[in-house]
Amino acid sequence: MKKISLGALLIVLVSLVPRSSDARFQVCKPSGKIKGTKPPPGKCVEDNDSFCCIPGKLYPTYKCSPPVSGTTKAILTLNSFEKGGDGGVPSKCDKKYHSDDTPVIALSTGWYNGGRRCFQNITISSNGQMVNAMVVDERDSTTGCDEEHDYQPPFANNIVDATRAVWKALGVPMNDWGELDITWSDS
Ligand SMILES: *[C@@H]1O[C@H](CO)[C@@H](O)[C@H](O)[C@H]1NC(C)=O
Ligand SMILES: *[C@@H]1O[C@H](CO)[C@@H](O)[C@H](O)[C@H]1NC(C)=O
Repeated sequence: MKKISLGALLIVLVSLVPRSSDARFQVCKPSGKIKGTKPPPGKCVEDNDSFCCIPGKLYPTYKCSPPVSGTTKAILTLNSFEKGGDGGVPSKCDKKYHSDDTPVIALSTGWYNGGRRCFQNITISSNGQMVNAMVVDERDSTTGCDEEHDYQPPFANNIVDATRAVWKALGVPMNDWGELDITWSDS
């Protein structure tokens, strides 16, 4: 009898645990990992805060990003979306380049959401300043450390990669451009 009532108690307890499908309890877990390989001679180009994969080091990959709310935490980074800029290739949403004087951004894979945020605007906030910026590109958190990605690691899953126009609009002094904690929401 004792055993049965203990079992019943366990069932009651388990049914009280929130379902993992509940958005508030969603956690973004790695989808895999990539091992860094030694880039061929001369293939590792490190500039402007970009670093090549370290041979043997494991890098987690993510198909998801943290859940989006009215104040989604992210890391703001700086990039050029112009031809010949750091980005290298045209933006994924429209296969075009964009002036660094326009407020455009790229989002980590989960937030990019298979292109469903393309041309949508998000509101970026930091230090009491706000700017609207348009999504035009993805920062891939699912692959990296290969020729296609300049032997650089997969991106983090919480990146908002922005033009200088965004950094200017947030009032960040140029000397501090690089990485910044921000929050964002869909506009
Ligand atoms: C590095 O950043 C500077 C300043 O934003 C830029 O002028 C330069 O073109 C960048 N380097 C590359 C290789 O894109
Ligand atoms: C995003 O903002 C730009 C510039 O303000 C505007 O032209 C565009 O229509 C907006 N996109 C959407 C989907 O509202």
